[in-house]
Amino acid sequence: MKSERPSKDTTVHFDPHAGNLDNMNYLKEKYNLSLIRPFKGAIDNGGGSGYVYYYAEKDSARFFIKWGGAGNSLANEVHFTNLLYKENPNNFLQVMFEEHNEKKYVAFEFLKTPTLAELLAQHNLVNKQKIILQLEKIAHTLATCKVSHRDIRPDNLLVLPDGTLKLIDMQWAVPNSPYREINYVNEHPEQFAELGTTYAIAQYCWDDMYSIHKLIRELGGHSDYVYSLIGKFKIQYNVQRDIILLKEQIKQLQSDSQQMQTQSINKPLTLLNCWKQIKYPKWFILFLCWFIVKKKNRRKFKKKYSIRQ
Ligand SMILES: Nc1ncnc2c1ncn2[C@@H]1O[C@H](COP(=O)(O)OP(=O)(O)O)[C@@H](O)[C@H]1O
Ligand SMILES: [Mg+2]
Repeated sequence: MKSERPSKDTTVHFDPHAGNLDNMNYLKEKYNLSLIRPFKGAIDNGGGSGYVYYYAEKDSARFFIKWGGAGNSLANEVHFTNLLYKENPNNFLQVMFEEHNEKKYVAFEFLKTPTLAELLAQHNLVNKQKIILQLEKIAHTLATCKVSHRDIRPDNLLVLPDGTLKLIDMQWAVPNSPYREINYVNEHPEQFAELGTTYAIAQYCWDDMYSIHKLIRELGGHSDYVYSLIGKFKIQYNVQRDIILLKEQIKQLQSDSQQMQTQSINKPLTLLNCWKQIKYPKWFILFLCWFIVKKKNRRKFKKKYSIRQ
């Protein structure tokens, strides 16, 4: 499909302090590009993924370039895009060139086309049935390749004018059988706050089939095929998560008790203040008190009883 030239509004003023000029010069020389420029607010996408984007041209080819990314997310993106494109070139992007060692970037074919999110916001979605069929095909490919994308939502689906869907943005993708988490996420589990959002089953728990099903329902349709796959590829992150949280909780308790000490110098130590500062659940404290009193009474009673006998 021949795509149109990008309109002027996609251009932003680049910030030389962000090092974009260096990046662009590097790419321009290495690939002999005829044009390269920042694309879509390239300095910071606000999504926390740490990418900057460029639009580039060489002869009649156009490229969408993602540069940077957190940890090993870019290598991940390249690996899974290649894998899925090989299985289904219709619904996944083609990687044009890439590097992911010292410099990290990947170039895809550039598609001047809206995302599903944009079309839904504009109430401008025609041929919903075709979109639903494409979603079924995407589900089939993910299931065949045993891949969980983990961030399926309308912003990550490009819609071509003929209704073809492209699932993009593989930075969070993982093999689901066996599930192996990407290094960056193991080191920074707080990144999950970014991930899946409204289409995930829950935080730390994903099922692409559930996300696709939810999307299809939102489009007013239903797919028996996708519905039948819900639960088959569900994955859950649990590597040491609780241990990290526990450590953080202990740190928090320590800093709280320090705070309490300084507060108590300034504040009169009333019974109510003490009660308010207790961090454990109040029912637990009450239960503990009740238990101690009960035990004491029982001992007293036994003592008394044994004297009488
Ligand atoms: N191949 C492409 N051609 C044109 N625009 C694209 C292409 N891929 C992505 N985009 C646009 O860039 C946005 C961000 O891309 P995405 O891969 O989702 O990055 P992020 O990881 O920052 O979410 C997309 O929502 C889409 O609007
Ligand atoms: Mg995205």
